[in-house]
Amino acid sequence: MEPLKQENRVFHPPADFMKGAAVPGMDAYNKLCAEANADYDGFWSRLAKENIHWKQPFSKVLDESKAPFYKWFEDGTTNASYNCLDRQVANGLGDKKAIIFEADDGTVTNVSYKELLERVCKMANALRKMGIKSGDRVIIYMSMSIEGIVAMQACARIGAIHSVVFGGFSAKSLQERIVDVGACAVITADEQLRGGKALPLKVIVDEALALGGCEKIKNVIVYKRTGGNIPMVAGRDSWMHEVTANEATTCEPEWVSAEHPLFILYTSGSTGKPKGVQHSTGGYLLWAILTMKWTFDIKPDDVFWCTADIGWVTGHSYITYGPLAVGATEIVFEGVPTYPNAGRFWQMIQKHNATIFYTAPTAIRSLIKASSNDEAVHPKSYNLSSLRLLGSVGEPINPEAWMWYYENVGGSRCPIADTFWQTETGGHMISPLPGATPMIPGSCTLPLPGIQAAIVDEAGADVPNGQGGILVVKRPWPSMIRNIWGDPDRFVKSYFPEELGGTLYLAGDGAIRNKDTGYFTITGRIDDVLNVSGHRMGTMEIESCLVANPLVAEAAVVGRPDELTGEAICVFVVLKGGRPTGDAAKKIATELRNWVGKEIGPIAKPKDVRFGDNLPKTRSGKIMRRLLRVIAKGEEITQDTSTLENPAILEQLKEAL
Ligand code: WTA
Repeated sequence: MEPLKQENRVFHPPADFMKGAAVPGMDAYNKLCAEANADYDGFWSRLAKENIHWKQPFSKVLDESKAPFYKWFEDGTTNASYNCLDRQVANGLGDKKAIIFEADDGTVTNVSYKELLERVCKMANALRKMGIKSGDRVIIYMSMSIEGIVAMQACARIGAIHSVVFGGFSAKSLQERIVDVGACAVITADEQLRGGKALPLKVIVDEALALGGCEKIKNVIVYKRTGGNIPMVAGRDSWMHEVTANEATTCEPEWVSAEHPLFILYTSGSTGKPKGVQHSTGGYLLWAILTMKWTFDIKPDDVFWCTADIGWVTGHSYITYGPLAVGATEIVFEGVPTYPNAGRFWQMIQKHNATIFYTAPTAIRSLIKASSNDEAVHPKSYNLSSLRLLGSVGEPINPEAWMWYYENVGGSRCPIADTFWQTETGGHMISPLPGATPMIPGSCTLPLPGIQAAIVDEAGADVPNGQGGILVVKRPWPSMIRNIWGDPDRFVKSYFPEELGGTLYLAGDGAIRNKDTGYFTITGRIDDVLNVSGHRMGTMEIESCLVANPLVAEAAVVGRPDELTGEAICVFVVLKGGRPTGDAAKKIATELRNWVGKEIGPIAKPKDVRFGDNLPKTRSGKIMRRLLRVIAKGEEITQDTSTLENPAILEQLKEAL
């Protein structure tokens, strides 16, 4: 990530894009914002009525009586799966392609809305037959597949709360989530295929369940993906194709309150264990739909492709729910961007005539690198003329990557939606609207209509444009996090801290607004959360994992800027047996890397491991992470180190292996 420089290039939405857009021009954007400002309840009420099928209409819009436990449309009843599937079939879209699934090996399977509805109903019936009911929690540990989406939608259909765990997490991480959420069933696959390799899923589930505390799990349902040899436990494990085989293709949805939890998704925080972010049904779905319309300007003929995994929030909002709830055709991809070669994304856009493409800056940066000396995998070697809109998500996109994406993938004709949002926000918060907002590379521009984003100082007071500060949201919005599962105190403390007055939603990011345009630029996390390739990792989580290793006495984890992955994990370790050097140090570093990979998951493996006799500490014993960050970057320490207990240690830690 290059340092932020003053960026003056402005890119206006193309005139013909603007003409047909859902929000055509800044006047239309300003009008929506004004409507929200004039009558907040009325604004959301109108949109909720227009965009969601309510079984029983709501009478109250926003209930703030137990703030910050806000409630939206609470006495309205609806069902997310009905809104995504039955509604489309009823509107004559039964034969429309819902999903174009492309497998790792390139095999394509199309599923129509009618077929998807039938498959979801069969699975929902099977889950009901196992005794799973509304409010029960179901863990989904699967890779990208039609079946993964069917599993999520089937849970939603019967009111069961799904909690998807990314397939790259370890048995221990999986077990912790199973226990914390109190799940009664796990849906998984025998194995997953990535880049031509079969990787385990079911055996990791077995391992997780054997770690204990998972006695509530009565059923493990397995999708047969590879046919690999896996053990099945009699009475507990069943095959997805067998349990659904004889089920009816219709299934009455469970009509739930708009506030009924749709899902819980674990994400890293600055302290301790991951938090179970709890989302609602009605408000969440409303925002998934509205952002599909406003940010992605979705149209009936679009072929929408979001490259995220269903294990992350982006996959929830912009694969499983949003695109289906607006009746779109979407591409679902099992594989990786570099297999069989780094032209895979471009080749798939060409093959399926994708019109909207939504991916992460890390992927863009790695493909820039891969194509810099290989014409064959450069986007210019493919016909990408079907594209009309691009999107970016998960981390700041540096202006250089933005320009490359704009020119080479978008042919200088496609707007780029640089969407800032979080697991907790449910959907986009700050993003250009493609037919309205003039774009400046590296800025996520302006909040979506109705979103009261602002920048404040440490006491919660507004700061003027041009001065950096803390990103907050001043008013509740429908798709906001409702709670941290099982930990309401942590919810209040994490997101509505007293220091800011207790009413502002604290995003955890720093930001600055441009003096002239008022545009937002996100400057990165202000807490101990790292963003590696768009994946959120808590430094504390990795530290606790390291000190649990028998060799380790102490560990400190910091992030350092990385050209490719945005941030890289850098760890400073003190071993019980003293400071290793030479080959011994290299060997232990590899061991520790693998340890983290095994305990948390491969995505948490540190890039850089350094050893010291001690860590830099203040006289009161606090680790000075500030200094470690400077050392990790390889920069000279200019800060005052006179308060350090042991300044000599800094020289040791500068030594890379
Ligand atoms: C970061 C992903 C800059 C930010 C949807 C946020 C971004 C965290 C952007 C949330 C963006 C996400 N520009 N930073 N467009 N989008 N982030 O929960 O630090 O996995 O707090 O949600 O990613 O990550 P999460």
